[in-house]
Amino acid sequence: MKVSVKVPATSANIGPGFDCLGLALPIYNTITIEETVLPGTGIEINMMSEDEVFDEMIFDNIPKDENSIVYKAVEMLYNSIGQEPSELKINIQSQIPITRGLGSSAAVIVGGLMAANKLLGSPADETALLSIATEVEGHPDNVAPAILGGFVLSSQEEDGSIICQKLDWPEEWDITVCIPDFELSTNIARSVLPENIPLSDAVFNAKHLAMLINAVNKKDEKLMKIALKDKLHQPYREKLVPGMKEIMDAFKHEDGILGTVLSGAGPTMLVISHKYDLDKIKATVKEIWEGQSIKVDIKTLKVEPEGAKFVE
Ligand code: HSE
Repeated sequence: MKVSVKVPATSANIGPGFDCLGLALPIYNTITIEETVLPGTGIEINMMSEDEVFDEMIFDNIPKDENSIVYKAVEMLYNSIGQEPSELKINIQSQIPITRGLGSSAAVIVGGLMAANKLLGSPADETALLSIATEVEGHPDNVAPAILGGFVLSSQEEDGSIICQKLDWPEEWDITVCIPDFELSTNIARSVLPENIPLSDAVFNAKHLAMLINAVNKKDEKLMKIALKDKLHQPYREKLVPGMKEIMDAFKHEDGILGTVLSGAGPTMLVISHKYDLDKIKATVKEIWEGQSIKVDIKTLKVEPEGAKFVE
């Protein structure tokens, strides 16, 4: 038996929502798991990429054995029902650029889990899958929209349970996704964050996250422009993303631009706009990054309302 799951890319944080906000985007990975009948064949993982900013070196360096995240997720699911995975062939067809802050790892975790769950006769419900995915990924902000689609507020509570709230992202707000041709691993991007932050910064983010939720619910662009600010992660990650500050500054005072944020742990940046000249966004980002010899792939996308789904 063979099961395929198509999973959207995701962008986490969205300004003040560090580790708790994320949205799905229409770029996809398809994960196929096949139970092989020959005993002793073990686990085989293959990856194929359609990614335009695809880097052979990064791809080659991703574990494709028992150390891979997709295998870890699948193993946890099998273990949760008292079984061990064996004789599985896992194929990952990837459109989502790797190590760019677009949820490629969340997509393979979610796709692997959903496919394996179906092969096992669906013993785990969505909540259980979300819980395993969060454990493997470390935070729920990418895996939640990868499973549910749309714009999602998520939290792993102290008892381990996951809370998810889907919010309505205003359809008229454009998201211009600017993907530079350099990698930034989440581990490195998390290693520059401080253990402790000033109380004033925590209050700053709490206020702005509350504003953001309200701005999205009311489609209030003025409020959104104030809300899309962050003091928990972006200021610390600036030094890892050349051009980030210039790009943010370039759009700060433009009417029609609601905000510019780092996508997840970066280095991709999102420019959120309404009725703004999208070619101008493209030209500005290109000029800044190409001026620093950084190639960039830019696309304006709508939020993908649907989460991971089974495909033929
Ligand atoms: N919230 C995470 C971070 C997303 O910013 O580190 C990256 O996976």
